[in-house]
Amino acid sequence: MRKIGVLTSGGDSPGMNAAIRAIVHEAQTYEIDVYGFYKGYIGLINGNYKIIKDIDVQDIIRWGGSILDSSRCPEFLNKSGRDKAFNTCSSLNIDSLIIIGGNGSISGALELSRENDIKIIGLPGTIDNDIAGSEYSIGFDTAVNTATDAIDKIMDTATTMENLFFIEVMGRHCGAIALMSAVAGGADAVLIPEIPTDFNKLIKKLKNKIKKGKRGLIVIVAEGDDLGHATEIAKLTQKELDIIPKVTVLGHTQRGGSPSAKDRYLSTLLGSRAVECLTEGKGNIMLGIKYNKITEIPFERACKKESHVQKMFSQGIIDLLT
Ligand code: F6P
Repeated sequence: MRKIGVLTSGGDSPGMNAAIRAIVHEAQTYEIDVYGFYKGYIGLINGNYKIIKDIDVQDIIRWGGSILDSSRCPEFLNKSGRDKAFNTCSSLNIDSLIIIGGNGSISGALELSRENDIKIIGLPGTIDNDIAGSEYSIGFDTAVNTATDAIDKIMDTATTMENLFFIEVMGRHCGAIALMSAVAGGADAVLIPEIPTDFNKLIKKLKNKIKKGKRGLIVIVAEGDDLGHATEIAKLTQKELDIIPKVTVLGHTQRGGSPSAKDRYLSTLLGSRAVECLTEGKGNIMLGIKYNKITEIPFERACKKESHVQKMFSQGIIDLLT
């Protein structure tokens, strides 16, 4: 093996660049060339690539986004798209790939590896932390820190002005960012997709806190909550309480920014191990983290829809905040 293809796919996450850097550095020790494909699977389909050199990755450990760009690629859902991608690899004599991305990207890698003679290592890259088999994904820690920082700032004004705030964080199907940042930010309640929202319980909780004299109130809402988005929930709440709630949607601020030390470390560890795995002839696995150690997860398992919320948090915390 003298060539490895690498791409970042799906919603970007802080730490993707750190992973690319680690891959390039590790590959260099084996004298392997790294072919970086642009815009995720689109670059693989269209043959849009650049050979990434040492010089290209200096300093990028601290950059958000991805130097290779990223995208969601509907064409890759079809076999014809995947055939084109494989043709690109064949014509360049590339038989090994490293795919950094979320659920959809790893599922794409699984299909490509089933249909073709190619070895693929997946790295979990998503702020959502919703990939089965790995306790953490690249970008999650940074996103939680971004959300917590925003909660802290809003808490200052909420307390001073005696306001109720609904803060919406990302997570269409997974409440991990919401729960972790709610705990870290000392929020009063959190609404997540995994647990059907009991609106009466929420109102009771807020009324109780107001009665006890709590000055600022903060409710974290994961964007995928079953009761709706933060603005809708705020409107419903206004009808029940004598307060006009304020709403802040953190949105894509959570996807950007310089990766945290933890994300840089995780990306570096997983990126270099991915290259080693390919040199050992391994493939069609995703690398993840379990009990602080790197773990190898078969693609089939990594592609299962699985929420981390129940595993990451004690039932006591979940009951208290939801
Ligand atoms: O990458 C994951 C994620 O940030 C989710 O948390 C969010 O629901 C989604 O992507 C937003 O995607 P887009 O940027 O395509 O709107």
